[in-house]
Amino acid sequence: MRLLVHSGFFALQKVAYNHCHEGYFLTPASRLLLKDNPFGSSPFIALVLDPILTEPYNSMSTWFQNDDPSAFVTAFGETLWDKSSRESVFNRLLNASMGGDSSLIGKAVIIKCKEVFEGLNSLVDVAGGTGNTAKAIADAFPDLKCTVFDQPHVVADLQGRKNLNFLGGDMFKAVHPADAILLKRDEECVKILKNCKEALVTRNDKQGGKVIIIDMVVGDQDYDDKFTETKLLFDIEGMSCLVGKQRNEKEWANLFFSAGFSKYKINPVLGPRALIEVYP
Ligand SMILES: C[S@@+](CC[C@H](N)C(=O)[O-])C[C@H]1O[C@@H](n2cnc3c(N)ncnc32)[C@H](O)[C@@H]1O
Repeated sequence: MRLLVHSGFFALQKVAYNHCHEGYFLTPASRLLLKDNPFGSSPFIALVLDPILTEPYNSMSTWFQNDDPSAFVTAFGETLWDKSSRESVFNRLLNASMGGDSSLIGKAVIIKCKEVFEGLNSLVDVAGGTGNTAKAIADAFPDLKCTVFDQPHVVADLQGRKNLNFLGGDMFKAVHPADAILLKRDEECVKILKNCKEALVTRNDKQGGKVIIIDMVVGDQDYDDKFTETKLLFDIEGMSCLVGKQRNEKEWANLFFSAGFSKYKINPVLGPRALIEVYP
């Protein structure tokens, strides 16, 4: 308990009814671990501590000396997504973890960046997991037709509702056309930026449209900002388990321009994450 108090997970305070005694109280950090907190992080913590995600760290030095795409592939001989499609308990944990984060971000996006979605008729959340970000957007914009696009085994049992539907498929093959294409926290999604551009250009010959990315932008100048450690830890996690990394603005810009986009706007309003609008 001393360690947990020292690290901020409990506060030691006088008990109100009897000032002679002290008691342990929850703090904002430990409240995030409560099961009934709708924005809780306990599935995420369980996920990053699961042996399937910690084992790749033991394979780092072997991975540095081979040509595997990630330390995860060195550890297990297959990608995270292939493994999760076969391991149902891990798959549930992965989806619960993404889902908790997406509920929080979905809510934050509607509070802080509502204008980004105004005037759109359709949106597809590519690699949108169980759809919690799209659900928040669909609820806030009842006339916006939202589609969550993810691997078939992820969306197989999910039920759509009024302006929200689920579609299984492979984002590396093609992306469903829509006025806006949302990519949230998927290090590998950048591979499909060209498919996104294609989907914006070919949708019924309409002009405009945009890609909306919710992800981290590592600042060259922000090594002291309070979110830097989070961004750098996610960088390492992406490197060990996925084929990806966190990017600075210059790296994002190179990516957008080489995928054929002409301009972008970064809104750094979601804590360690930013909302980036990218235009054809
Ligand atoms: C890091 S999760 C992000 C999920 C969601 N965007 C979020 O932020 O909570 C990456 C998602 O990509 C999906 N995915 C991986 N490969 C895919 C593919 N080839 N086609 C479609 N979705 C894919 C996974 O199933 C997973 O839901």
